[in-house]
Amino acid sequence: IYEQPVVVAQTLRAYLRRMENEVAMPDMDFDLGAVKRITIVACGTSFYAGMVAKYWFETFARVPVDIDVASEFRYRNTPLFRNSLFFVISQSGETIDTLAGLREAKRKGYKVLAVNNVVGSSIAREADGGIYQHVGPEIGVASTKAFTSQLLIGAMLALYLGRLRDMSFSDGTEYVRALKGVPDLVRRTLEQAPHIKEIAKRYAHYHDFLFLGRLSLFPVALEGALKLKEISYIHAEGYPAAEMKHGPIALISEQCPSVFFVPAGDMFNKIVSSMQEIKARKGRIIAVATTNCELPPGLADDIIRIPECHEAVLPIVATIPVQLLSYYIAVELQRDVDKPR
Ligand code: F6R
Repeated sequence: IYEQPVVVAQTLRAYLRRMENEVAMPDMDFDLGAVKRITIVACGTSFYAGMVAKYWFETFARVPVDIDVASEFRYRNTPLFRNSLFFVISQSGETIDTLAGLREAKRKGYKVLAVNNVVGSSIAREADGGIYQHVGPEIGVASTKAFTSQLLIGAMLALYLGRLRDMSFSDGTEYVRALKGVPDLVRRTLEQAPHIKEIAKRYAHYHDFLFLGRLSLFPVALEGALKLKEISYIHAEGYPAAEMKHGPIALISEQCPSVFFVPAGDMFNKIVSSMQEIKARKGRIIAVATTNCELPPGLADDIIRIPECHEAVLPIVATIPVQLLSYYIAVELQRDVDKPR
């Protein structure tokens, strides 16, 4: 977790062309400018990175994206579109379902681009083009720095695809400025650790959690829930914040706290109204909120502040508090965070 400011800087250094304010992608034997559609396939945390990438590719590059978990994709004879890029994400490069998905796509004649952390892995060898994460080995079982670097590569690829299409020079420049700021944003967010540790001590005894976010923060909610389950063995679910009222709201009580992602912007009032529904049912709320949004007094029981930032980097910054929260809850429960069940 604490390596992240350094490793995201490494990932940036590998692909950001500083002078030209652009991203440089490694040589590939296909033309990214001709891509009309993208299919992303991955598992677990890497799949959630893909969900965020879908949001960015569609928002910033205006390329439609389909996404599937690899174990479903490989058995579901999904029609693929011509001129579509097949994109796999795998930290290890050895996940068998992702590899099988890649082989299935290649068999059907598609070009495959892989984001991968392990040089020379099976997925790296079999893909038509690869982008290495350059973050070093994930020592613990749970993916942390690998996830944020997958996100960063997704954000860079969205910029690259966007600039090949209709993203303006000035929007591109602003985007690059945001990317360059990521190591510092991550470092500043990590400074919240003592505060998050205190919160974790107060919440470690709960048995159920909801993680709620919207748009690009919905996959971060899924990732937060996965991290908590994986290392502390507490039941947790992630939902799009407004979907909560279509069923999961039945779970809300004093016994089931919710972690809400609350960025300033268009969705702010809608997120506040979801929080009010939780409060009306006596649910406790931990808000992960950007510094520029003012929450109604008393709505959140605890607030973790994250720096205000560009949409293209917000999911990266918002991930840090939920990694720390899961970590400190697991430590409080005396779980072995590096070798979970
Ligand atoms: C969760 C975690 C897993 C992996 C998944 C895919 O912390 O590590 O969910 O993300 O098993 O692994 P890779 O990315 O190696 O294909």
